[in-house]
Amino acid sequence: MGEHLLVRGGKILKGQVNISGSKNAILPIMAASLLSEKEIILNEVPDLEDINVMAEALKLLGAKVKREGKVLIIDGSGVSNYELPESISRRMRASNLVMGALLGRLHEARVAFPGGCAIGSRPMDLHIKGFKSLGYEISEGSGYLHGKEQHAQGKEIMLDVPSVGATENIMMAAALTPGYTIIRNAAREPEIVDLQNFINRMGARIKGAGLDTIRIDGVERLGGVEHTVIPDRIEAGTFMVAAAISCGDVWLENIVVEHLQPVISKLTEVGVEILPWSGGLRVVGKRNYRPTDIKTMPYPGFPTDMQAQMMSLLAAIPGTSVMVETIFENRFMHVQELRRMGADIKIEGRVAIIKGGHYEGANVESTDLRAGAALILAGLAARGETRISKLEHIDRGYEKIHEKFKALGADVERTSPD
Ligand code: UD1
Repeated sequence: MGEHLLVRGGKILKGQVNISGSKNAILPIMAASLLSEKEIILNEVPDLEDINVMAEALKLLGAKVKREGKVLIIDGSGVSNYELPESISRRMRASNLVMGALLGRLHEARVAFPGGCAIGSRPMDLHIKGFKSLGYEISEGSGYLHGKEQHAQGKEIMLDVPSVGATENIMMAAALTPGYTIIRNAAREPEIVDLQNFINRMGARIKGAGLDTIRIDGVERLGGVEHTVIPDRIEAGTFMVAAAISCGDVWLENIVVEHLQPVISKLTEVGVEILPWSGGLRVVGKRNYRPTDIKTMPYPGFPTDMQAQMMSLLAAIPGTSVMVETIFENRFMHVQELRRMGADIKIEGRVAIIKGGHYEGANVESTDLRAGAALILAGLAARGETRISKLEHIDRGYEKIHEKFKALGADVERTSPD
C-alpha cells in the first residue's frame, strides 16, 4: 500500500503561495535540449516525478543530467542512442516528445509507445503525419515507433486538431530540418511559446508560437543556453480553486496573469473575487457562488487540465452547472470519486451535469493527476475527513502539494505507507 493524504475539511485557506515552474513547459524543453551538443541550464525546475522520468530518458539517450536545487543542467554532447525503451515511455506519455528532437539531432529515433494518464486513447497520428511530411520515414511495430531520415526537407503541415504534443514534436524536428516548415492549426498554449523561446535562444529560427501558424526556418546546429521556465498555470489555477472552495484569501506569486485568463474568467463568473497585487493575484473566496457552464477548449479556451478541479468547485455550488469535455473522451474518472463524497453529478457522454450540494469526507482514489488535485479540493470543503490514495498520480505533477496546502492553513497530512 502506498501513502495516503488525509484532508480534514472546513479550514479557511489564507496566505501566500509560490507557484512552481510549469511541468508541461519543462518536459518539452528537456526533450528539446537533445537538439544541442552544448550545455543547457534550466531554472525554476520543480521536483516532480514526471521530470525525473524525463531526466532518466535523457540519460538513457546519452545526455548528462544534473540537478542543483531548482536548476537542471543538461549536457547533450554525448547523445548517440536513439532508442527509448518501454520501461521509460510506459511511465510517462510525454516521453514521446524526445522523438522530434532525436530525429532532428540524430536523424533516427525509436520510441516505445507512451503511457501516462489514462484519459482517453491519445493517439500519435498527427505527430507521425508531421514527421512524414518533413521527410522522415516512420514505421510502427513491436510497440515501437521508428523514424529514419529519408529526404528531410521543411514542408507545410496542417494539423487536423491543434495538438500540443504534435505541435511541439514537429517544432523540434523542424528546427534542425533543412528548409522552411509551416505548421498550420498549431496549438497555441503558453508552453509552446516557452518552447519556441528556448529553442530560439539556442539559435533556431522559429516564429509564430502562440498563434495558429508557426514558421520554422531550419538551421544546421544549435548551441547552449540558460532558460527560466514559465510558471505552472495549472498549479496556479488549482490554488485559485482552493481559495474559492474554502472561502479563503490566497495570494499567488510567480504567475503570468494572461495565462490564467480562461480560469479567472470562469471563477469571476461564479462570484469569486480576483484582485491584482504587485506579486501576482489575490483570490478571495465568497459564500454565495452562482452555478455556471464550462466547455474545455484548446488555449485560450478553458483548459482540460483544470476541468476536474473546477468540477470540484461547481459540485459545491447550489444550482445546476454543466461541464463539457471536448479534448479527451475519457476524462471524467474523478466523477465517481466525487460521488463517493456526496456529489450529485450525472454524465452523458462528454457532458457532466452537476447539481451542487455538500461534500462528506470519504475514502477516495486519485485516478489521474488532475483528478487527484480535484479530490484534495473537494476534501477542503468536505465535512469530516477525506482519505486519498494513489498519491503517485498527484506527485507526477504537483510539487510538495501537501506542504503548500498546509502552509495556507489546510488540515492535510501525508501518511506513511501502511
Ligand atoms: C498536453 C498536456 C496535457 C494536456 C493536453 C491538452 C503535456 C506534457 N501534456 O498533452 O496535460 O491535457 O496537452 O491541453 O504538455 N490527438 C490526436 N492525434 C495526435 C495527438 C493528439 O488526435 O497525434 C488528440 C488527442 O487525442 C486529444 C487532443 O488531440 O483529443 C489533444 O491532445 P494533445 O494536445 O496532443 O495533448 P498532449 O500533448 O498529449
